[in-house]
Amino acid sequence: MKSKASIKSHPLHPILVAFPIAFFTGTFLFDILFLFADNEDHLTTAEYLNIAGIVGAVLAAIPGIVDYFTVVPPASSAKKRATKHGLLNSTVLIIFIVLYFRREDIMITTVHMVLETLAMILLTIAGWMGGTLVYRNQVGVDIRYASAGKWNEEYLDKKSGEIEVATTGELEVNQMKLVHINGKRIVIGKTEDGFVAFDDRCTHRGGTLAGGSMICGTVQCPWHGSQFNVTTGEVKAGPARTKITTYELTISGHKVFIRL
Ligand code: FES
Repeated sequence: MKSKASIKSHPLHPILVAFPIAFFTGTFLFDILFLFADNEDHLTTAEYLNIAGIVGAVLAAIPGIVDYFTVVPPASSAKKRATKHGLLNSTVLIIFIVLYFRREDIMITTVHMVLETLAMILLTIAGWMGGTLVYRNQVGVDIRYASAGKWNEEYLDKKSGEIEVATTGELEVNQMKLVHINGKRIVIGKTEDGFVAFDDRCTHRGGTLAGGSMICGTVQCPWHGSQFNVTTGEVKAGPARTKITTYELTISGHKVFIRL
């Protein structure tokens, strides 16, 4: 049985992250304004922005967690980066929660400002990591293949034996799809010579090969450009040095099967 899912990041993730960044920055700026202008209205504004930032951060964390477990390639440099990104954001959230409950009526202490400054620095680093995840690791990029094919991803729940992974008319030459079988991520592609199957994990730093491009029997990793022969798994260009695992496929009628 097959079920379909999207490889794209959760659509609310890039929208919701803007709110905690804006509200926490506003909290910081209005606290500084209060220190210089000694106007209680600034302190009240900072307090409301602090609450809004906490709510926004909690809401933004939900699609972030979904993306962490479903979209970021496992055992990759992106997974490590995403882990740090999540931990930094969590630390920022905890700091602003603690600071909110420590706010005193008409006072801002030095410790308060030091912690808030630290939180802003961590928020900046976390934001930079989030940008790197999108722009370098291409997490959440809406990919198109040769002939404008859309990335198709399927979760297959059959555990053993011959597993149907595609139909013969499903892909055009140089198009790929990603299938999840028993926790494995396997790319099914179509070359000029027929169907191929190989691990989705680039042996350099774990880039998703299904997110790369395939042409003339060679797949190129989107992260640093390593190239692999999709039939033998051999490295054709580095920085990867280790071949990828390939799998044999059989075709029966209009169906393509893999045996793991
Ligand atoms: S992860 Fe570096 S080339 Fe693939």
